[in-house]
Order: sequence, then structure tokens, then C-alpha cells
Amino acid sequence: MKSRYAVAKEVFVDSVDTMDYIELESSYKAFKKLEQSIEKPLKMILLFGSPGTGKSMLLGRLYEKLKDKKEIHYFDTPAISQKEFYHKIFLVLTGKELPPNTEVNFSALVNYCKKLRGKREIVILLDEAQMYGPELMEKIRLLSDSRAIKFIVSLHKTEDEDLIAKAHFQSRIWEVVELKNASVEDLATYIHKKLLKRNLFEIANSLKPKHIQMIHKFTRGNFRECNKMMYAIFEVSEYYDLHEPNKINYTNMSRKIIEMAAIKLGYIHV
Ligand SMILES: Nc1ncnc2c1ncn2[C@@H]1O[C@H](COP(=O)(O)OP(=O)(O)O)[C@@H](O)[C@H]1O
Ligand SMILES: [Mg+2]
Repeated sequence: MKSRYAVAKEVFVDSVDTMDYIELESSYKAFKKLEQSIEKPLKMILLFGSPGTGKSMLLGRLYEKLKDKKEIHYFDTPAISQKEFYHKIFLVLTGKELPPNTEVNFSALVNYCKKLRGKREIVILLDEAQMYGPELMEKIRLLSDSRAIKFIVSLHKTEDEDLIAKAHFQSRIWEVVELKNASVEDLATYIHKKLLKRNLFEIANSLKPKHIQMIHKFTRGNFRECNKMMYAIFEVSEYYDLHEPNKINYTNMSRKIIEMAAIKLGYIHV
């Protein structure tokens, strides 16, 4: 027989699917701020936050919400070369694919953009921008100077964080939206809503505020960490459910199980 925890476990497999978007206080605020920024005469907007705080999810959501109203594009994976990036921009501007070996003349691309000024308002969502080198970031800035394309640049802190932040963004990005790790309240909403969406009422109810506190303490409210932790908690629960059901309390999660999950993930060392 399949354990009910097997389903619960799958709920927390990391995926950026906007269908799974949950409105949380932090994501709502950031979303509103981005939406408003897009309407302002800005060239670049920075979406900033540690890995796992929900940046990709937010960009995906923004794209879904605006795609019928605006000329908006989501570059979810960074281009591996300048050439590939130019090809992607060319496609956005003209709707045409270039043959793979074609070299794109960057100044021609900028001139083309300048001509579009006032005629088209293109928004490009650039995820994982910490992967773009300084040279390409400079090109992106030049494109945004044309004012035909506005970039929402999402990036997380890396070792080069200072370099990227100082050299490229400080004076140029005109608005910064920051995503932080979730509060205990947001984390509770997140965990419960995810479970309730799959009709896992009893499991959701078995996670009380004290359990959420524990999970928040271990994961610091980081969604990706929380996904891993929930997965591990239900993995342990699944084991007991199948092998030692007398040791499991279905209406009240055991702190022991959470601790076992924490050990498994290396949050607790024994
Ligand atoms: N608002 C949200 N609604 C639902 N799930 C979310 C939300 N924000 C984050 N998540 C979850 O957290 C994980 C990490 O989010 P992600 O957007 O990939 O973070 P980042 O891009 O900042 O590294 C996602 O796979 C998703 O499961
Ligand atoms: Mg991401």
C-alpha cells in the first residue's frame, strides 16, 4: 500500500511552476513593487535575493500576469554566450530566428532599438543574471539606454556580488526589489497551502505552530531549504507509516521526526 506521506513528499519537490504560485505577504509586496516599477520610466530594475527566496517563481508569475497586456519576455536560463544573447534579443525585436552561425552586429541592434523608442515598450525578465559577465551586463545596459527595452534583472548574492553590484548596478539600476527569507507566518502559509492544494488536510493539520517554528529555525525561512526539509520529514514519516505505524501520531507531527529530518539534512550533527 502507498503511504499518504508519499504524496505529501512529492508536494515539496522543488519546481518553478507558476501554477503552484502561492500568494505570501513577501511575494505579494515584491510583486506589487515590480508591477509598479514596470510602469515607471525606468531602464532597469533589480530583483535581488538569496537563492531559494522565490525570485524565479515571482518572475514566472509576473510573466503570466502581464503577458496578455504587455510585450514581455522571460529569459529563464542565462545565455551561454554573447552571441546567443544577441540572437535571443533579435528574436524578441523582430519575431524572427537567425540562422545559428549568423553574427549579430551589436551597434545595429542598439540602433534598431533606438528607432523603436516610443513605439514599442518591451520588458525582458532576465533570471539568474549573476551568470552574465560584466561585458554582457554592459551590453544589456546599452540596450536599456535605448528606452525601447526595459530589463528586470534577477540575481542572487555570489562571491562576486560586490563586483556585480558596485560596478554595474549602483548608479544604473533605478529600483531595487529585494526578496528575503520567509517569516514564520509566511512559511506556515506556504506549507499549509501547498498541502491543502492536494487535499492533504490531516497532514496539514498535524503541523502545528511549534513544528513550523522548528522548520523555520532550521531552514531560516528559505523556501528551497524548506522544500528539502518537508521532503525529508515526510520521507521519515512514510517509513514509519509503512513499517512501524504504532509509532506515528497522525494528528500531531512528532518533533522527533522533524529532528530526524534535520539530522538527515545535516542541520543537526550527532
Ligand atoms: N510564492 C511562491 N509560491 C509557491 N512556491 C514558491 C514561492 N516562492 C518560492 N516557492 C518555492 O520555493 C522554491 C524556490 O523558489 P525559486 O523561485 O526557485 O527561488 P530563487 O529563484 O530565488 O532561487 C520553488 O521551487 C518553489 O517550490
Ligand atoms: Mg531562480
